[in-house]
Amino acid sequence: MTTPGGPAGLVLRESGGKIPGSVVTVTINRPQALNALDAPTLEALTAAFGAVEADQAVRCAILTGAGEKAFVAGADIKAMSAFTPRRARAFVELAHALGDLIEGMRVPVIAAVNGYALGGGCELALACDFIYASRSAKLGQPEVTLGVIPGFGGTQRLARRVGVGRARELCYTGAVIGADEAARIGLVNAVVEPEDLLPRVRAVADAIAAQAPLAVADAKRAIRRGADLPLGEANELERQLFANLFSTDDQKEGMRAFVEKRPPTWTGR
Ligand code: CAA
Repeated sequence: MTTPGGPAGLVLRESGGKIPGSVVTVTINRPQALNALDAPTLEALTAAFGAVEADQAVRCAILTGAGEKAFVAGADIKAMSAFTPRRARAFVELAHALGDLIEGMRVPVIAAVNGYALGGGCELALACDFIYASRSAKLGQPEVTLGVIPGFGGTQRLARRVGVGRARELCYTGAVIGADEAARIGLVNAVVEPEDLLPRVRAVADAIAAQAPLAVADAKRAIRRGADLPLGEANELERQLFANLFSTDDQKEGMRAFVEKRPPTWTGR
């Protein structure tokens, strides 16, 4: 699955997962604009993740930015500067649809934040399941410095990820924080030397890709949907998903393989 270049400069490529075709890397490729997100790039990302989700061989995806400087330096300020309220609304609808798509996908998506992840870039990373960051990464929601607020879901996803108090502080001050501070507050899971970032994220993706795919998808579903439900309903969702997995071949295979002291062979059924 390779779509090099393209008008929006998006590269979608298959990485060498341990199980061939099981890990896909989506690279945002507008380094001349620090991978800023304009409407064509958002559309290309939506198409790319739609294709990833439709490919049954894929078990995990990685999202990263081209170049050494930026993951995504935000929504495209030059494009936004002449927006009317109506255009602004249509633009953020596009970005929210992309965030919802990533969050709702069967396969986990890991953000490999290789540099600036500001504004819409931080928000795009937050729509991914979790974030690994290079030691040189810088993250933040600087929208107030431009006279606006986060518009790609940041006010909600950041608060859910790091807590309301820290989200308020970041969104009100526009402060840009380093990777270590981002890890300390729980915005990123791990900080890695720049040259080790993609190898480390690929190793994590391989570890995910090696697990029972229906179980991974249900773990994602339970955590995502459960976050929006009262605890009792969320726990009921978990009970339902757990019980349903006992109708799958993979549950039988996984437990039989344990008893027989051999590695399982997953079929995704
Ligand atoms: N939109 C459009 N172009 C951008 C951009 C953005 N968000 N960020 C960087 N660029 C462009 C620059 O304009 C520049 O292009 P030119 O050479 O044509 O002028 C190029 O990328 C390189 O950037 P700099 O020369 O500024 O690089 P730097 O190393 O000096 O600074 C930076 C890097 C600190 C990230 C700086 O580029 C910056 O502050 N960028 C904007 C960050 C920002 O405010 N992001 C939030 C955007 S608003 C948003 O995202 C709203 C939302 O939630 C929907």
